[in-house]
Amino acid sequence: MTDTRIYLSPPDVGDLERKLLLDAFDSNWVAPVGPDLDAFEEQVAELVGVRHAVALSSGTAALHLALIAAGVRRGDTVLVPSFTFAATANAVVYLGARPVFVDSTPDSWNVDPELVAEELRVRAGRGTLPRAVIAVDMYGQCADYDPLLEACDRYGVPLIEDAAEALGATYRNQPAGSFGLAGVLSFNGNKIITSGGGGMLVTDDGRVAKQAKHLSTQAREPVAHYEHRAIGYNYRLSNLLAAVGRGQVQRLEQMIAARKATFEYYRRELPEFEFMPIAGYGVPNYWLTCALVDADDRDRLLTTLNARNIEARPAWKPMHLQPVFQDCVTRGGGVSADLFRRGLCLPSGSALTEHDRKRVVDAIREG
Ligand SMILES: Cc1ncc(COP(=O)(O)O)c(C=O)c1O
Repeated sequence: MTDTRIYLSPPDVGDLERKLLLDAFDSNWVAPVGPDLDAFEEQVAELVGVRHAVALSSGTAALHLALIAAGVRRGDTVLVPSFTFAATANAVVYLGARPVFVDSTPDSWNVDPELVAEELRVRAGRGTLPRAVIAVDMYGQCADYDPLLEACDRYGVPLIEDAAEALGATYRNQPAGSFGLAGVLSFNGNKIITSGGGGMLVTDDGRVAKQAKHLSTQAREPVAHYEHRAIGYNYRLSNLLAAVGRGQVQRLEQMIAARKATFEYYRRELPEFEFMPIAGYGVPNYWLTCALVDADDRDRLLTTLNARNIEARPAWKPMHLQPVFQDCVTRGGGVSADLFRRGLCLPSGSALTEHDRKRVVDAIREG
């Protein structure tokens, strides 16, 4: 095995990020406060088209604070797509609430709005409405927000958008992250842009932003001595990491274009694959290219690619099939179970070269 490893979605950082990081270091703003943090928040708020952004240590922290803003408390329920990364559901459990999982639609792999509406209708009838609904923009494609928001508004239930994977995508020309009470972004190392770990809560609601910022800095009251009226968290992003993020945001368009080119290459070269459908309502950011193949082929391809030093992954294992969530209620589940059985995620990083892409396709053909 002599070829260098091709990763699924590695960081793509360069001179710009390096310069901004070292400038921040030299300025001695080596703390979770500083001008890069403020500038990064401003840039992202503008990009997402919202009034407020609060930079945090992770997307998971942003989910946690968004759920607090929605009023989620011990004993509540929250509707969560089953087909997602565990962080979405974990944040619900942090608050002592219980996720109720909802299946995906095969049309976009995102949560099925009809199932969400049905679950809300049934729960309204029983007087057990969830405290919140979370929608996830899967693999960089927005969920279907018109029917989701209509259903949530009908019952007065706030919606939180987990756009961790979707910065730069749009739904009916409106940016990912801007739907519902608050949006959640992730700048983890594998995301479309990275700060080397980090996240952001984005919102139009000044009270939500103020509360998130307050809770993320240990809920210190603005007085000289240390005064606390609430339980806080140490969730603020470091100024150093924000400097890296600032550089990455400037390159977002280029990152999306590179990932789109990779998606188009795979789609052209692998016509036998059933790629994640792109819904007519929006434009994805092409974060990860994923496709459905025969279940036996999927496992064989994972082995072949790995043997050729290429990282590929199965699609998310749905939350309703996870041992840790086995006691949770689920509406539907067959679609996400099938996506897991047949879904294959291919190397999609924005620094992937022509040669890398060809290596992936050649390995698949040989496999
Ligand atoms: C859908 C989704 N939600 C939440 C997260 C959590 O973000 P973070 O890793 O920044 O905590 C991720 C990715 O890591 C994700 O893919």
